[in-house]
Amino acid sequence: MSEQALNLDRMREIALLGGGKSRIDDQHQKGKQTARERIDALIDPGTFTELGQFTSSADSLSGNGKVLSVGDGVITGQAEIQGRPVYLFAQDFTVMGGSVGKTHGKKIARIMKMAIQNGAPLIGLNDSGGARIQEGVKSLAAYGDIFYNNVQASGVIPQISVIMGPCAGGAVYSPAITDFVFMVENTSQMFITGPEVIKEVTHEAIDFETLGGAQIHTAESGVVHFKSSSEENALKQVRWLLSFLPANNLAPPPIIDSDDNPERLTPELVDLIPPTAKEPYDIQEVIELLVDNGEFLAVQEDYAKNIVIGFARMDGHPVGIVANQPDHLAGVLDINASDKAARFIRFCDSFHIPVITLVDTPGFLPGVEQEHQGIIRHGAKMIFAYAEATIPKITVILRKAYGGAYIVMGSKHLSGDINFALPDSEIAVMGPEGAVKILHRSELLKKDSNPARFNELTAQFRKNHASPLIAATEGYLDDIIKPEETRLRIIKAMQLLQDKRQQTPARKHGNIPL
Ligand code: HXC
Repeated sequence: MSEQALNLDRMREIALLGGGKSRIDDQHQKGKQTARERIDALIDPGTFTELGQFTSSADSLSGNGKVLSVGDGVITGQAEIQGRPVYLFAQDFTVMGGSVGKTHGKKIARIMKMAIQNGAPLIGLNDSGGARIQEGVKSLAAYGDIFYNNVQASGVIPQISVIMGPCAGGAVYSPAITDFVFMVENTSQMFITGPEVIKEVTHEAIDFETLGGAQIHTAESGVVHFKSSSEENALKQVRWLLSFLPANNLAPPPIIDSDDNPERLTPELVDLIPPTAKEPYDIQEVIELLVDNGEFLAVQEDYAKNIVIGFARMDGHPVGIVANQPDHLAGVLDINASDKAARFIRFCDSFHIPVITLVDTPGFLPGVEQEHQGIIRHGAKMIFAYAEATIPKITVILRKAYGGAYIVMGSKHLSGDINFALPDSEIAVMGPEGAVKILHRSELLKKDSNPARFNELTAQFRKNHASPLIAATEGYLDDIIKPEETRLRIIKAMQLLQDKRQQTPARKHGNIPL
């Protein structure tokens, strides 16, 4: 073998070892896999083509004349998941803490460009101490280039980030721009400034996990969409998520042959939805009843639980579900629920995934805190998202649709394509009890007024003003459907909308209230 070939073999060996055996042991001891082990766990076996394996910075190549590491702390390449191409990068914490220097950043930016040009999803496996301190402005510039590419890719290819270790400083903003962020419990954290800096500046004492662990970001901040108990589970979830998504904005979503009968009746809906408007129930059970084989991937499950969003299939076609959750805060719309649903609808619209909206909500959440924190601005996002979306939109009013929430939740007025209601549902400016108290105030205040009279007026209001027949008569509903035919009517509606084309006026972009 020539000397050059020997050198190449040696370089490759060093590349495969990342930061070396003892740092790999440290990584394992922390309950973390190495970057290469993670790639293997994510992709279809044997499909990885590494690109830029030898691309390295001068720093890592010359430690006292010795090669320290090859690859600059990030592995980039192309692979297949469920037989479909993806581009990916995996940061290697064993090399300078996975920190982003000029070369590391260039490698990521290049793979992002390739993903955009070749129209395939981009997956980032993040494990990084942030900007590489010793490279100064060059590492900041590298981050800037990555952020720019994230924005260029947005709405063109699906972008997925998996946080598998610390993700500090600049490292958090690239994931924040991507479509879906995953975190692993106990071994991953995201924060702009760490506990030490916080202590110095605001004198608050906090540990890494409480500051930016998976629990905080999935339940409180809403930064992260999926939390997993292990790296293996997170990567499995990524594969499941990808199964619903098209390769890019010009490709159709992946349709499969469903073994769930499209004409399956759903009489169970009658028992799942309580007859009285105020009784809670779990909307997730309704979703699982309606979709193929009960398989539903909830997105942001722990955040703003009063609205449920996620992916499923109907007769093999991917759909996005947006549904009020009567089991949590009665399914009201508030600031966080509006943000959560609006961003999801925009994702579905970017990638031709029809949205099915299931409505059962008493309206927007009243309260000084909500008003002062801007429910007006946040609620407006949902209006914007539904009205600008040109994908097929199918809405079913299950029980109640009161006030602004009736309009906002995929109504005909915001360009819902097919709108249904169940026979016992109520559509009104407000709930019958509240309406009667306002409309019949003077009568109800009279001394001889009794509870029976109130009940009588409420029943009258429900019949005369809240019946779905009124909306259907006006053409605001396409049909009033029986509970048992809900699944098959949604599927029929999807079939008749499958070639939908909608032109919107030419403009650079709208100005959604952010
Ligand atoms: C260079 C870094 C580094 C960094 C870690 N390392 N972060 N090297 N630049 N940003 C190196 C360490 O020196 C160490 O090298 C190895 O990685 C492992 O780090 P440890 O500290 O030993 O690991 P651990 O105890 O697990 O702690 C991980 C950590 C901590 C929490 C990430 O390293 C840390 O706090 N790092 C700094 C995080 C940070 O503040 N980054 C923000 C940068 S500013 P050796 O050789 O000893 O193994 C920024 C601004 C960009 O990102 C703004 C853009 C909008």
